[in-house]
Amino acid sequence: MKKLRNFEDISPVELYLLFSEGLCSSIDVFPDPILNFTARNQVRMHSVRVGTFLFDYAQHCNLFSTKPSQMALVAIFFIGLYHDIGKFYKGLPEIWGSPKALGETGKAQIRIHSIEREAISWVLEEKMGIDSETLPLIIEIGAMFHHYTADGLGYPKTLPDKKILRISMPLLVMDCFEAGNSLYRDFREPKNFSDLQRDLDRAVLEGKVASGPVRRWTYFINNRRQPLGWTQMPWIYECMKEMKRINFEAVSLSALQDP
Ligand SMILES: [Fe+2]
Ligand SMILES: [Fe+2]
Repeated sequence: MKKLRNFEDISPVELYLLFSEGLCSSIDVFPDPILNFTARNQVRMHSVRVGTFLFDYAQHCNLFSTKPSQMALVAIFFIGLYHDIGKFYKGLPEIWGSPKALGETGKAQIRIHSIEREAISWVLEEKMGIDSETLPLIIEIGAMFHHYTADGLGYPKTLPDKKILRISMPLLVMDCFEAGNSLYRDFREPKNFSDLQRDLDRAVLEGKVASGPVRRWTYFINNRRQPLGWTQMPWIYECMKEMKRINFEAVSLSALQDP
């Protein structure tokens, strides 16, 4: 018989990660017009989880100089939710949906998900029936620049005005963190928190991610005292029913740019 663990033996970090998996599973019971074109799959789960991590980061880790409004937090959630929509571009689902790890060719092909605006527009219009012209710029920029690394490498290589949006680096950290811990990658086991932390620390040493977001995120997840951001998810799902109700201007580009 399986030996059950005591609740007290589970660390806050483990609980956080477990609950976030639970939340992502429960998304099926909510009306979900934005993501319902996708089957239950790793990119869908990844998107929701990156959105919720980013929401918590924005709420608790000083992303903004002042306390963010609810609307700003929802907009941040959507930046995380949409960051990988380019992965649904023609032919790409067959590549990332493969149960094997991507080879060099597959990696090169999948890169267009964050480089090509056309890929993002195509998914919005063909798969989701949303006029891509109405896509808020802040979300488009999150989708197009979430693989930009702190050492200036990664892809694509240039940013508008050569400025890194303040959101880009936390988004990259959450992206790596979720990918490492995901239960939905067929070709590998989810990593535990200490391994994830080691990976992020190594990425800082290699100049790939900035130390600030990694330090703040690992501190938060180790010491969180506040209720989790995702307890507000039912309200977010209400917003998801009609995206137009979200005031994306609440998160202006300038508010997210480093001085
Ligand atoms: Fe991506
Ligand atoms: Fe991602």
